[in-house]
Amino acid sequence: MSKILVTGGTGYIGSHTVVELQEAGYTPVIIDDLSNSNKGVLTQIEAITGTIPEFYEFDLCDEQKVVSFVENNPDITGLIHFAASKAVGESVEEPLKYYRNNFFSLINLLNAFKNRNINFVFSSSCTVYGQPTKLPVTESAPVQKAESPYGNTKQVAEEILSDTANAFKNYQIIALRYFNPVGAHKSAMIGELPIGVPQNLVPFITQTAIGKRAKITVFGDDYDTPDGSAVRDYIHVVDLAKAHVAAIKRMEEKKSKANYEVFNIGTGNGFSVLEIIKAFETSTGVKLNYEIGPRRAGDIEKVWGDVSKSASELGWKATLDLEEMMRSAWAWEVYLKEKNPFI
Ligand code: WQD
Repeated sequence: MSKILVTGGTGYIGSHTVVELQEAGYTPVIIDDLSNSNKGVLTQIEAITGTIPEFYEFDLCDEQKVVSFVENNPDITGLIHFAASKAVGESVEEPLKYYRNNFFSLINLLNAFKNRNINFVFSSSCTVYGQPTKLPVTESAPVQKAESPYGNTKQVAEEILSDTANAFKNYQIIALRYFNPVGAHKSAMIGELPIGVPQNLVPFITQTAIGKRAKITVFGDDYDTPDGSAVRDYIHVVDLAKAHVAAIKRMEEKKSKANYEVFNIGTGNGFSVLEIIKAFETSTGVKLNYEIGPRRAGDIEKVWGDVSKSASELGWKATLDLEEMMRSAWAWEVYLKEKNPFI
């Protein structure tokens, strides 16, 4: 079956996607510079699927290395591009690092493959919508000025992809706009490995529950939402991973209506921070220590996706519920505490 390049494949979403690709009969090949992930993920993937993925360690900003990799791998038919810097707060402090890393890597890949017939899946984000004026948000909603350099890199990357698709008809490109990925593989062998203090809600919850953090601060309870805390569309990372396989299949089966397409990848349901905390406590039986604090700069109030286009055209929909999201996230945190294979 087809050989699919997965950049950032030892990362959180990348590793889950490598597992789903192998289980769907594809041969994933990983490029990762390990700047924000751990090489031990490879043997964890092998423990799940029985096959250790082919792995190359280098920085995609190094154009020569990308060119020689592409020349030496003529049998690659698809590419899923995860490798990018993705911390919103850090991007505000270090915009040039974000613009360099996220654009140089993307442009090097697009340039190196431009004379090949490639099915290209891009990791985009609901961040491009900013605070939508209408909910649920559809793919035709206007892209609003990004709140951070990170969000801007996603918006500009989508423009780069659209212009590339327009110029190079051999490219087939799909951008997947993720909502909030959470949870872990049911084996608890792979999951989110935040370096340092987690920025995102669910890893902060699980680290608080395991005793690594003293308490959670709920960033604001004065929003115009049912309980005052902010609302997001949380999606299980395994559902998200399967959406990438569906995107590759769509392009291989020539079902695309254009050579650049965009899809929302979420559940279509919004849950507040306080509802997530409650869901975690109910699913795991672990009581959480939390307090209400001020709003976090840059946060939007509420967003959830209209996912009807992904259902009708991608033939994909999320199937794992909030209980499994919380249960699997907790099982992964417990696994790390009891058998951390990365130290
Ligand atoms: C979720 C909610 C916080 C931590 C992120 C990325 C974005 C995209 C989706 C990839 C918010 C609240 C959080 C805490 C809290 N990812 N929160 N206390 O900001 O919606 O989006 O994931 O593309 O780029 O930024 O996710 O998990 O940080 O926050 O109250 O300790 O939880 O205010 O309302 P976010 P998050």
